[in-house]
Amino acid sequence: MPKDTGSSAHLLRNAEAELRAALPKSAERFERSSRQPALWTTRERFWPMPIYVDHGAGSHLVDVDGWDYVDCNMGHGPLILGHCHPRVVAAIDGQLGRGNHFGPPSAHEALLAELTVQGVPGGERVVFMNSGTEAAMAAVRIARAATGRRVVAKCEGGLHGSFEPLRHSVLSFAGPPRRPAASPDVAGMPPSTSADVLVLPFNDEVAFELLREVGEQIACVIVEPLQGSAGALPPAPGFLQGLRKTCDEIGAIFVLDEVITGFRLGPLSGAGLFGVTADLTVLGKAVGGGLPIGALCGAAHLIDLTSTPPDHPAREAVFVGGTFSGNPLTSVAGVAQLSELLESPVSYDRLNELGTKMRDGLSKALADQGVSGFVTGMGSIWGGPYFTKEPPTTFRGVVAGDAIAGKLLSIYLLLEGVLVTSPSHLNFVSTVHTEEEVDFVIEAHRRALARLQREGMLRESQGEDRSDAA
Ligand SMILES: Cc1ncc(COP(=O)(O)O)c(C=O)c1O
Repeated sequence: MPKDTGSSAHLLRNAEAELRAALPKSAERFERSSRQPALWTTRERFWPMPIYVDHGAGSHLVDVDGWDYVDCNMGHGPLILGHCHPRVVAAIDGQLGRGNHFGPPSAHEALLAELTVQGVPGGERVVFMNSGTEAAMAAVRIARAATGRRVVAKCEGGLHGSFEPLRHSVLSFAGPPRRPAASPDVAGMPPSTSADVLVLPFNDEVAFELLREVGEQIACVIVEPLQGSAGALPPAPGFLQGLRKTCDEIGAIFVLDEVITGFRLGPLSGAGLFGVTADLTVLGKAVGGGLPIGALCGAAHLIDLTSTPPDHPAREAVFVGGTFSGNPLTSVAGVAQLSELLESPVSYDRLNELGTKMRDGLSKALADQGVSGFVTGMGSIWGGPYFTKEPPTTFRGVVAGDAIAGKLLSIYLLLEGVLVTSPSHLNFVSTVHTEEEVDFVIEAHRRALARLQREGMLRESQGEDRSDAA
């Protein structure tokens, strides 16, 4: 904890007031929304108050007050080519006049399916949905149907959307670090759900032992190749392979959740980068080119459990799909974004170079200013700075840091013209960010860190739990 929590609370109040004064239109809109619940949107979970966006262009966002930000959030990750990429815009424009929604499938959906399976090692078939949440839910159902088992194993800190068994130990934790307990993360879930969840420590091979202890009950193990919302945490060498191998031993389905990493960490996503093949891969974000999507890709014998032969009752299948699944607008946007990325091999080199420049520059800024803090991530994904004593490798490691300093940092960065994801500090660069913009973001961090130091923050690295991370 910072020594003087009274003064940190004072700094938070001041910073929020400064933000409201600087952004009167956003503040007014936020006040109005607060009084009229019908106007609330999920975006208002952005801390401490959302900026209301007027428009996006390339790597920039402009808010309703006319402030221009370098966008490091990129729509929570999908916009690998930036805002309004000409190819994506042309594809959507072209489709709009030809119909924005149909009942039967469109040719573009089939094309998106072809591109998607190419990017997923072990991917033979794919089904489209409207969100990563739905795709993760379908993965669990298929695993349960295929194995006849109930228990879902997930890693502490792993985010897989809001399906009940997966909404455990995402933003909260319980039990000893090497034998975590399932911690329900949101209100409204039946307590019985927790009995069907096994929470594993991320990046700790004791996870393999925990799985073997109850092996015959486990339907699937689901894991992000790089934990995103937990703090952009890469996998320890051998961790993903160990989970894969243990799944084979105990007869469980191995599910990789590549909603963030899919087509971002490379043309073969996280699986290709880390050399591990899943039975089922959950996708979303980038696959839809900036429009809503979820996709579940994997071995044909598993995906095929979502349909039945015509003479069988429908209840024999795992139901997936919905009104807007595979809709033509998302399909053309996804085809445009994936084609652009896959046709130009330098895209990934550029993304990775920019990400490395960002992480190195921020780490140097912390070192130069004598701040104990760490920047995480890989490729075009960066997390932090997290104000911890040790480089964090788990969610518990991240939340051991000074959360108040992190919150203040995100406000000071907004005032410097940099939008970071707050409060999780999970950020992205796109192919249209420039080297100069990366330098700008680093310099903004230097000034924000200096301000925190002047205000008496960052003198120690242990902090309070970050219980409200985005
Ligand atoms: C790794 C991961 N899986 C699943 C989801 C849920 O996806 P959606 O928000 O599209 O439901 C997210 C959301 O950010 C995510 O990061």
